[in-house]
Amino acid sequence: MWMNDPNGMVFYEGEYHLFYQFYPDSNVWGPMHWGHAVSEDMVHWEHLPIALYPDSLGLIFSGSAVIDWNNTSGFGENGEPPMIAIFTHHNMAGEKAGMVDFQVQSIAYSNDKGRSWTKYDGNPVVPNPGIKDFRDPKVIWHEETQKWVMVFSAYDRVRIYTSPNMKDWAFQSEFGIEGDTRLWECPDLFPLTVEETGEEKWILITSIQKEAPNGGTATGYFVGDFDGSTFTGNPENLKWMDYGTDNYAMVTWSDIPEEDGRRLGIGWMSNWQYAQLVPTTAWRSAMTLPRELTLHQVGEELEVWSVPASEVISIQGTELNVGEVVLEANQRFELPGSPDLTSLTLRVNKPQNGRIAVVYSNQEGEELVLGYRVADNQFFIDRTNAGISDFHKSFAEKVHVGPAGEFGEELELMIYLDRSSVELFANGGQRVMTDIVFPASPYSKVELASEGTNTTFSEVILRSVERIWD
Ligand code: FRU
Repeated sequence: MWMNDPNGMVFYEGEYHLFYQFYPDSNVWGPMHWGHAVSEDMVHWEHLPIALYPDSLGLIFSGSAVIDWNNTSGFGENGEPPMIAIFTHHNMAGEKAGMVDFQVQSIAYSNDKGRSWTKYDGNPVVPNPGIKDFRDPKVIWHEETQKWVMVFSAYDRVRIYTSPNMKDWAFQSEFGIEGDTRLWECPDLFPLTVEETGEEKWILITSIQKEAPNGGTATGYFVGDFDGSTFTGNPENLKWMDYGTDNYAMVTWSDIPEEDGRRLGIGWMSNWQYAQLVPTTAWRSAMTLPRELTLHQVGEELEVWSVPASEVISIQGTELNVGEVVLEANQRFELPGSPDLTSLTLRVNKPQNGRIAVVYSNQEGEELVLGYRVADNQFFIDRTNAGISDFHKSFAEKVHVGPAGEFGEELELMIYLDRSSVELFANGGQRVMTDIVFPASPYSKVELASEGTNTTFSEVILRSVERIWD
């Protein structure tokens, strides 16, 4: 049925929890619940019963979860810390009646590893001051100030509140772009260390409801500093986490153990432009692969890169190492075997003209083409003739591009192809593009192509990727 944003991502006692916006009765958006799944490796998932149902305060919109290690809330039992979910209550009747304060922030807690939940009887914990879009709380523990910090979106900006106990919250500050009228959603706030310099910076994620780089909705971020109450950064310097059209509401896991230390995230693999119209029936939408985020110094800029979490390697099966492939201009080379459910790793000498591409095709003549083009130094995904697209005019309208920026003599591409999605990680995760596709039948052929240039692919490895369901 219908799924959108990932919610309540928290790690506790060996389990990664993934809650999500869920409407169990239909495959279009409707009264929101929190669905629930758990995994030991972020790859194989077990479905659990619905965690949070709508109630008298409203539907259960997006939010986060934390472990209250010090039992600041007093919800803990038998010396065990409670798991606390923080979410938006959306009063649908209020919205229909023309109220403006129909969204508030509420909490619920669990003393059995997220299996059963009790909503706090003092909800809401953050009442609405008269702002129509007031939602998607993400909470972190700020060690230096020994306080909980909540970021959430308030129309075209992020608001920051703090609390000693998860119940009493005080407004601290706002961060936004002067004059922005786009809707911001699903923020996240966390520190990352710059890999090249060791400097610590803070990343403020926000997903934006229109004018994404390739149309519709996408996840963006700012790099700055945070002192426990104010995020300081350049609001004019919004960057994109993923240049594909299908990674929205991406947020990160809370409480990853220090000895692991990774910043791990997942995004909703769709776009509000057409999410409710895509040609699937029993299910509607999926999450991206779990990704590890890192921060890099690139010239004067700081950029968040992402690669698939290392656990994904566990589902890679047989490996076909094709070795070097040298192509004359406008030649194609067909890899042996089928690309259905595979990953492909390529190293390619930087072309001087034209473009290099990977072409996935099926018997219907549908082609999904991705690669790099020299003219404007862009990575691209072309799904204009990749499958069913008549459900929305924007879906196959144009080729999607992401700037390659500066790089050395070689391009590095890592591509994960699933039945209805492709995830491209270029140059070590510096540029990422996620697109969904609906081929009439699975792509059965994969070719390397060299257009308007001769090219050497110095490394070509095709790996099968196993199904995660029995
Ligand atoms: C983002 C969003 C959130 C909201 C949720 C409702 O995709 O619009 O802002 O909480 O979806 O399902």
